[in-house]
Order: sequence, then structure tokens, then C-alpha cells
Amino acid sequence: MGIWILNGLTVDANNAQAKKHIFIENDKIAQVLDASESSAPQTDGHEVIDAAGKLVTPGFIDMHVHLREPGFEHKENIATGTRSAARGGFTTIACMPNTRPVIDTVDTVNYILDKAATEGVIRVLPYGTITKNQLGRELTDFAALKEAGVIGYTDDGVGVQSAQMMKDAMALAASMEMPIIAHCEDDTLVVGAPVSEGSFAKKHGLKGIPNESEAIHVGRDILLSEATGVHYHVCHVSTEQSVRLIRHAKQFGIKVTAEVCPHHLVLSDEDIPGLDANWKMNPPLRTPRDVQAVIEGLEDGTIDIIVTDHAPHTEEEKAKGMMLAPFGILGFETAFSLLYTKFVLTEQWTLGFLVDRMTQKPADVFGLPYGTLNVGSIADITIVDLETEREVLKEEIVSRSKNTPFIGWKLQGWPVVTIASGKIVWS
Ligand code: DOR
Ligand code: ZN
Ligand code: ZN
Repeated sequence: MGIWILNGLTVDANNAQAKKHIFIENDKIAQVLDASESSAPQTDGHEVIDAAGKLVTPGFIDMHVHLREPGFEHKENIATGTRSAARGGFTTIACMPNTRPVIDTVDTVNYILDKAATEGVIRVLPYGTITKNQLGRELTDFAALKEAGVIGYTDDGVGVQSAQMMKDAMALAASMEMPIIAHCEDDTLVVGAPVSEGSFAKKHGLKGIPNESEAIHVGRDILLSEATGVHYHVCHVSTEQSVRLIRHAKQFGIKVTAEVCPHHLVLSDEDIPGLDANWKMNPPLRTPRDVQAVIEGLEDGTIDIIVTDHAPHTEEEKAKGMMLAPFGILGFETAFSLLYTKFVLTEQWTLGFLVDRMTQKPADVFGLPYGTLNVGSIADITIVDLETEREVLKEEIVSRSKNTPFIGWKLQGWPVVTIASGKIVWS
């Protein structure tokens, strides 16, 4: 039995829209018919999904997520994390290696891949760490990790403090045609601040994380990328200075790509309502000027893709308050609706632009064979209700954690069916 998705609205990167009938057989897209030209197809014996009035897109791809397994299963695990992702319309996610143990050995990569295959509902692509135990002292065995199936190397959660270590990592990764993905943060400029430098920090007498702590690493690593020829990907860009540096690097043909998170596109430090750690993440919410800069960076192609940095932490952990709670917020379940409501409904972006930055573009940046609705491709498909406005309710969150600042927000653009490798994994 196959699945017919009838009369859905498709959109491409140029925002060309069409009504299509799509047939899924096994794990592949077997047919795509133009619904305005062909009469309704013969669907006998197949499951039928009526997608009339709904958007049908390639499944979303999130290249930066924290699934917390192994080691922090009280926050999330691969079973709950992939279900949360499926609810958000994601069919491929790339998980960060700051687990316990960290993903720095073949055994741990195998553990993740086995768990994802048996307990996950969507595709999970692991990153391996750059340095053993993320301590910044010794490189991991890049070749062995690649062989085991990692798609790149990153110490996300912390910055690689030594320029020489980063240069060695880049040279090695370049020789293997693998990317380096960097959490950019110079520790000497941060010293225990929970929020960004800005009006919120001032008002509450808090130390601030300065923009340079991010941008200094971005600038350093761009130069090291130029020297080594590696594909260098910048995590969660949040500052105006980083955008400027990446824009300049791209003009010089340096192989740099970058990502931005929904929260850095829709929130500034001035939106933080009070000392509530559900608004604490790293990088922190920056000034309105930075928000404007990352939006412009995404719009002009300086920033390539949208990622969530889904970072679950328990309510007890977040209840420790702004100073002591860990950094990070949930991402999967509100990503599309937030950006659709904030940027597409307001006509700042086209629907095609938003969809492209969450599907085809991340696939292109990382050389993945997903993110399209072409006949013959893997059937990763998300159906989105663009009409209904709904409130973000804590009780409905699928993630094991609930740490999001968006509870109570009324949003439009909700994924209603998620199909991964031809299987309905959320409905
Ligand atoms: O907010 C964040 N959360 N930033 C990070 O760099 C790490 C992440 C986490 O693992 O919780
Ligand atoms: Zn990070
Ligand atoms: Zn992260």
C-alpha cells in the first residue's frame, strides 16, 4: 500500500506555487502530478491524505539540535527528541555531541545510530566532537569518526579556545572533505554572564556577554578556514559583527556557511520579561540592532540556513534562575510557525524563502540527498496547515522538557502530518 497526498500546495525557492498530487511508494516519492492538469488519480488500495488548502513541503531539516542521549535522558532522549522534531515537521536532524560521554568515539557514534534506528522516528545524523571530551586539548580520531558515520566535527556547547587547535582541526577535516562546525565563543570575554550586554543586563545589574566573544571566533576561524581550505560552518549567528565578517568572507570566496535560530530572528534582549531562565540561551538574545542584522544576513544569503538549536533542560534546572540555570531553549515544535507568523504572514518573506531555508538549503550546505519533492527522492514530506491560529500550550509539548519562552504565543502555520522515509510519524 502506498500513500497519495492529494491537492497539496507546493512552493519552490522562487515562491512558484502549484497544486500537486504526490504518490509515495515504500520510502520513495514515486509520482508527482500537476493537480490542475490531471484528473484525480486512481487511489484504490492506497492510503489517501487530503491536503487541499495545505502546504506540502519536503520535510524540514535541522542541522543543529541537542537530543541529550546518552547521559542526560532526564532532559530528552532520542525517542522523545525525534517525536518532538516530527511534531515540528522535521524529518532530518543533526545532533550535537555534547552528551555524556561526548560523541568522540566510534562506540558512541554507533550507540546514537543504533538508538536512532530502533527508537527514533526520523533521521538522526550525528556530529562528532573536534576535541576529546570537548576539552580543547587533543583532536579526536576524525577518520574513525567519519567512517562510523559522523557528518562533521564540532565542540558545540563550548568554543575551541586555541587557534592552533582549531587550525589543526580544520587542516585535518579539509584533507577528508569534512566540515568544521563552530560554536563561536571566546571564554576570556564571557566570565559567567547569563545574558547579553545590553539594556536588560543593565536594568537587572547583570554581567553581559559581549558581542565580541562570538565575533572574535568568527573572524579568527574565517582566517583559518581561508588558510586550510576547510568548509567552515558558523553556529547560531547572533551578532551584527559576525554577520559583517561572514558577508566579507563570502565576498572573498572563503568556504564559509552559517546558520541562525528562530529566537535570534524574533526576539531581542529587550523582550525578556524578567528574570525567567526560559529566556536564557547561548548565544543570548542580543540587541534589536543585532536582530535586524541577522535578519538582513539571512535575507541577503550571508546566513544560509535556519536551525533550532533545540536545547531541552528540565523545569527544575530552569527554576534555578537566570544566574544558575543552564543555557538553552526548545526549538522544534515552534520553529516553523514562529517564522511563518512573524515573517511570511507579514509579507517580509515569501513562503518559498522560508521553506527553502529549512529544506533544500540545509541539504545543499551539507551535501545531503534530502530536502526535495523530486520523483525518486526519499519520501520525507511535511504537510502544514497555514490557516489555523493556535496558542502554544505547555501541555501539548512533546519534548520531555518544557523550556520555551513561547508558551502562550498565538501562532499560525502548524505542521499537521510528518512523513519520514515514507512512514507517517506525526499526525
Ligand atoms: O543555549 C545553548 N544550549 N547553547 C549551547 O551552546 C549549548 C546548548 C545546550 O547544550 O544546552
Ligand atoms: Zn552552541
Ligand atoms: Zn547547540
